[in-house]
Amino acid sequence: MLNVSDLSKIQGGKTLFSQVNFQIYPGEKVGLVGANGTGKTTLFRLIIGEERPATGQISYPDDMRMTYFSQNVGEMRGKTALEVVLSGDQRIEFLKKSLKEFENKLCDPDISPEEMDSVLIKMGDAQTEFEKRSGYDLETRAEEILTGLGIFPIDHGKRVEEFSGGWKMRIALARVLVVNPDLIIMDEPTNYLDIETILWLETWLKEFKGSIFMTTHDRNFMKK
Ligand SMILES: Nc1ncnc2c1ncn2[C@@H]1O[C@H](COP(=O)(O)OP(=O)(O)O)[C@@H](O)[C@H]1O
Ligand SMILES: [Mg+2]
Repeated sequence: MLNVSDLSKIQGGKTLFSQVNFQIYPGEKVGLVGANGTGKTTLFRLIIGEERPATGQISYPDDMRMTYFSQNVGEMRGKTALEVVLSGDQRIEFLKKSLKEFENKLCDPDISPEEMDSVLIKMGDAQTEFEKRSGYDLETRAEEILTGLGIFPIDHGKRVEEFSGGWKMRIALARVLVVNPDLIIMDEPTNYLDIETILWLETWLKEFKGSIFMTTHDRNFMKK
């Protein structure tokens, strides 16, 4: 599913790794172990395309859904907790917006019959994909995941900046999990999490049917 071949990376004049080869198969859970500064984060950044390798290739199917969870919570200000999680699935967001636009066009009294036909066809395709991606229960899934992470429905409408650091981290995690990815890349996911969240995440990842490529200093977590 993910295929890495002949991968080398030089950083600041230092060769971090050279001619690395490995595969990750569907459903496989792989742990990456190595001392600080050996290039684990760099390898993840190469896979998600944020860095370029010196040599080698990284390939995966076009339709593979890959998400990356890092210590970096990113920019989420101004949105509610639920909105942030919903925005995690960018394709569903896009389809939702398109469907709205198509609806508006169909309400236009000046629309020509040809245009109407064309809009109806595109709308049908968007509708089919939206259903295939479980767009209708995205919100239910988002709420379930937030609640599972200890953020209860009463707080789903609260703005992200009103949450403390640890809680923001859980919201970032929920945004990754809602995509239902084929492959989750996790860089030290347990670093800012308390024990309760770690246990919840452990269970979630154990039941997760997709692949995981992860690094963590928490050996216990990795083994489970
Ligand atoms: N953007 C960068 N420019 C120069 N050096 C970097 C950059 N990013 C990381 N490094 C260096 O590359 C090495 C590997 O870093 P990193 O991939 O973060 O390791 P790890 O995640 O295993 O701790 C470190 O020596 C780090 O200082
Ligand atoms: Mg790192």
